[in-house]
Amino acid sequence: MMLRRWMAAGLVAVATAGALGAVPATANRPHDPTDRSLRALALRHKLHIGTAVDMAALTDPADPRYRELVREEFSSVTAENEMKWESLEPTRGNYDWGPADAFVAAARRNDQRVRGHVLVWQNQVPKWLTDGVADGSIGTAELREILRHHITTVVSRYRGRIWQWDVVNEAVSDPWDTPSTLHYKGFWAEHLGPGYIADAFRWARAADPGALLFYNDYNIEAFGSGNPADDKTQFVHDMARDLLAQGVPIDGVGSQGHLGTQYGNYDPIQVADALHRFARLGLATAFTEVDVRSRLTDGVQAGDPEEINPRLQASAANFHALLQGCLAEPRCLSFTVWGFTDRHSWVPGWFDDPPEGLATIYDEDYRPKRAYHLIKADLVYAGPPYVLPRVAPKPRR
Ligand code: XIL
Repeated sequence: MMLRRWMAAGLVAVATAGALGAVPATANRPHDPTDRSLRALALRHKLHIGTAVDMAALTDPADPRYRELVREEFSSVTAENEMKWESLEPTRGNYDWGPADAFVAAARRNDQRVRGHVLVWQNQVPKWLTDGVADGSIGTAELREILRHHITTVVSRYRGRIWQWDVVNEAVSDPWDTPSTLHYKGFWAEHLGPGYIADAFRWARAADPGALLFYNDYNIEAFGSGNPADDKTQFVHDMARDLLAQGVPIDGVGSQGHLGTQYGNYDPIQVADALHRFARLGLATAFTEVDVRSRLTDGVQAGDPEEINPRLQASAANFHALLQGCLAEPRCLSFTVWGFTDRHSWVPGWFDDPPEGLATIYDEDYRPKRAYHLIKADLVYAGPPYVLPRVAPKPRR
């Protein structure tokens, strides 16, 4: 009896000493996950966390922190402007590949995937093209041929180096446009008719068999009425369904995710539901341009914490809703923010009446904001059974 009790006590003592010897006395768990980068934490779910990259900032010798954070925190990158048509072909027939090539090379050095942005869009189209159409010197047949040539040239140049291409961007109107019934809008639909969308995907596929081909748009984070006449998400869903039925090689739908804290916005379950419904069509999804801006009221501009804090918290909550929705759908492949710091964000320059800002996850001095910590927590505190690893589709023929 005495002996047994002594032996049991001895075993406990030996086991305790062994355990203490194996683990440094200071660590009460093997690793603190919040010490790690967003990119490392997201890869647990096979999810890529991305950012839009401003090439002027990336190459600015006076701004090393920008480069460091791009490299350390993100595993996917999108050129904010350098792959747009007006940047690539400022005068007809003369492609300026320098900045786009430098961007793709930097991504490769940083072991990052690239979202190609963008092949067909009504904005940032070169002036020679819009002028030529306006003055009648470029007719319909030539315009279609110019578009085919552009897509083929750009996609071929970066063949094998682009993970996801935004083939067509923002082709659908909004309820506030005229007419208010949703329709295909903008330069390309007006001059070529909506058939340009199917053509663009086919031309892109012919030039790169391995890239995932996306349709990309804003205000499609959640379904609304379910009526495609006024519900943009439904309109895009039905468009993608019809393209697939015609055998068009579309692989995914990108939801930009430009939100503002002054709006009602969505909860994670509504967001997940939308992504699930695209997945049921057999499509991948991605958040491609997330930022959550706020009104810069007089109080905000004067530094009043009672006006700033609620906005920072609301912004964080909206990043979180979109990321949780994405985590919930295994075919949601990437979550890209449209700039990561208020130091370099398109928002103040674009939304200036009334002024808006505070839209990103780091402040102007590269201090992580509440939004950064909240999305980090989402990545850490998520796993099976509700969050499963991503499943990437094979590029569709
Ligand atoms: C924006 C850029 O961030 C700005 O620098 C540029 O002046 C205008 O375009 N939807 C898109 C992006 O698909 O290409 C836009 O980027 C933001 C809205």
